[in-house]
Amino acid sequence: AGKRPLQGLCVMITAGPTREAIDPVRYLSNHSSGKMGYALAQAAVEAGAKVTLVSGPVSLDAPLGCERVLIQTAQQMHNAVTERIAKTDIFIGCAAVSDYRPSLCEEQKIKKTDKDKLTLTLVKNPDILGDVAALSHPPFTLGFAAETQQVKQYAQHKLVNKKLDMIAANDVSKQNIGFNSDMNALNVYWATGETSLPITDKLNLARQLLELVAAKYKEK
Ligand code: PMT
Repeated sequence: AGKRPLQGLCVMITAGPTREAIDPVRYLSNHSSGKMGYALAQAAVEAGAKVTLVSGPVSLDAPLGCERVLIQTAQQMHNAVTERIAKTDIFIGCAAVSDYRPSLCEEQKIKKTDKDKLTLTLVKNPDILGDVAALSHPPFTLGFAAETQQVKQYAQHKLVNKKLDMIAANDVSKQNIGFNSDMNALNVYWATGETSLPITDKLNLARQLLELVAAKYKEK
């Protein structure tokens, strides 16, 4: 305990965006920079954990002392997580995973035609966090929720629906926090309580969030 509250524990963190190929040169993605997930990985190493960081494409270096697995798509992230989950004590889903992917990736670049409309058909991706929480012996699970409205309701809905131990909600309607910024603020919910972590830089916030996770993990 004390300064290294996760000493000896295995922590897996997903971070960054996923990319879902449309054709050989195009993809669907989002604005996640990976900063929040990488800050969590660094804070977890500092707290004494053995850390696996499963990351989409970002321009950040892996924090010293963690094992990084690089992936592109949601399906690859799902596979990377599933293959390594067995000894995990705490799983943190910070990645902004595409909920849908194009139903097929065209083999050749899609050419512009005379038609004014082009229709893309999307199919659902696996829910990585949901599948981890549904394991017969699940680790402690912390999810993230990026919301633009009704932040508390939507976050608590995800907590219950995905059967998570804890969820950290980002109000991404606010400027200068959440996606890509260096600062963030979180509202954290669990079955019997909630707390707010006010705006600060992502590393500081990650340290505070992991202290809370360590305390709840030990209660469980
Ligand atoms: O990367 P940054 O620029 O620092 O930004 C950080 C962040 C805003 C991306 C991050 O803090 C955040 O909020 N991540 C979750 C983004 C989100 O919208 O998640 P969601 O509401 O779509 O999904 C809820 C949870 O399920 C998340 O923990 C997500 O990782 C997980 N999920 C979602 C879909 C899916 N197919 N598999 C999943 O595991």
